Amino acid sequence: MLANFTLYKRQKTIWRTLFSEIFKKLTLNKMKTINKFFALLFVMAMAQYGLAQTIVGSAHDFSGDTWNPSGEVCIVCHTPHNANTTVTDAPLWNHEVTTATFTPYSSATLDAAVGQPDASSKLCLSCHDGTVALDNFGGTTGGTNFIGGNDLLGTDLSNDHPISFTYDPALASADGGLFDPSTQNSGLGGVINDDMLIGGKMECASCHDVHNGSGIGFLLVKSNANSALCLTCHNK
Ligand code: HEC
Ligand code: HEC
Ligand code: HEC
Ligand code: HEC
Repeated sequence: MLANFTLYKRQKTIWRTLFSEIFKKLTLNKMKTINKFFALLFVMAMAQYGLAQTIVGSAHDFSGDTWNPSGEVCIVCHTPHNANTTVTDAPLWNHEVTTATFTPYSSATLDAAVGQPDASSKLCLSCHDGTVALDNFGGTTGGTNFIGGNDLLGTDLSNDHPISFTYDPALASADGGLFDPSTQNSGLGGVINDDMLIGGKMECASCHDVHNGSGIGFLLVKSNANSALCLTCHNK
C-alpha cells in the first residue's frame, strides 16, 4: 500500500512536470481546473488502492530523513517519557519549542482578539517558523536542518489566516459573516466547535490534521474544493 502511495506521488510529480509544459500558455482559470483534475485523480487512486490515511508516508513522516537517524515516525514530536510540558496541553511533546515573538494577523475589519500563537499552534510553529531546527528533538539542541520553501511561515504571521483566538457565538454575531460555531455543522460529523476548534479557539489544527487523518492534500481536515473548507465557517 505504502509503495503504491509513494509511486503515485512520484507519478503525480512527473505528470505535473509534463503537463505544466503543455499548459504553460493557459489562463489561471484553466490551471485551476487542471489542479482540480489532479486532485480528482488523487482521490480516484486512493479509492482504487484503498490507501490507509495516516501520518505514514505523509509530509510529516520523517522516518526516512537523514536528520532523524532513529528511523521512527512519532519520536520527532512525541515521547512516552520526560515530555516538554512548557506549552499548555501539549501532547507528550518531544520537540524543542519556539521562543519567538510573532507578528499576528490584524486588519481594520477583524473582530477577533488575536494574540500570540498558543496551544498546538505554538507546536506547529516550533518547526514552521524556521527558528528551531527540525532535528532539535529528544533534548538535542544543536540541530542544523531547518524548514524551507513554502512550508516556512516565519515569525511574521500578518499574512496568514488568524489563529489562537476564541471563535464563539458572540464573535459570529459581531462579525455578521460567520456561522455560529456552536450550532453550525462542520461536515465532519458534528458542529464546528466540537470538530474544528480546540478549547473554543481557532488554531492551525482547525484547518490541518498534523497526522494526515483525512488523506487530503496539504494535510487539510476537509477538502477545500470549491472553497468548502472556508465556507464551513464563513457565511459568504
Ligand atoms: C510533526 C509532528 C508530529 C508527529 C511526527 C506526530 N505527531 Fe502526534 N501530534 C502532533 C501535534 C502538533 C499534536 C497536537 C495537535 C493535534 O492534536 O492536532 C499531536 C497530537 C497527538 C495526540 C493527541 C491528540 C490526538 O490527536 O489524539 C496523539 C495521541 C498523537 N499525537 C499521537 C501520535 C503518534 C502515535 C504519532 C506517530 C505515529 C504522532 N502522533 C506523530 C504532532 C505530531
Ligand atoms: C517536527 C517539525 C514539524 C512540526 C512540529 C510540524 N510540522 Fe508541518 N511540516 C514540517 C516539515 C519539515 C514539512 C515539509 C515536509 C516536506 O516537504 O517533505 C511540513 C509540512 C507541512 C505541511 C504541508 C504538507 C504538504 O502536503 O505539502 C502542512 C500543511 C503542515 N506541515 C502543517 C503543520 C501543522 C498544522 C502543524 C501543527 C499542528 C505542523 N505542521 C507541525 C515539519 C513540522
Ligand atoms: C483557515 C484555515 C487554515 C489555517 C488556520 C491554517 N492553514 Fe495552513 N493551509 C490552509 C490551506 C487551505 C492550505 C492549502 C494551500 C493554500 O491554499 O494556500 C494551507 C497550506 C499550508 C502549508 C503548505 C504551504 C504551501 O504553500 O505549500 C503549510 C506549511 C501550512 N498551511 C501550515 C500552517 C500552520 C503552521 C498554521 C498555523 C500557524 C496554518 N497552516 C493555519 C489553511 C489553513
Ligand atoms: C474553522 C473556521 C474557519 C475556517 C475553516 C476558515 N476561517 Fe477564516 N476566519 C474565521 C474566523 C472566526 C475569523 C475571524 C473573523 C473576525 O474576527 O473578523 C476568520 C478570519 C478570516 C479573514 C480575515 C477577516 C478580516 O476581517 O480581516 C479572512 C480573509 C478569512 N478568514 C478567510 C478565510 C479563507 C479564505 C478560508 C479558507 C481557506 C478560511 N477563512 C477558513 C474562521 C474560519
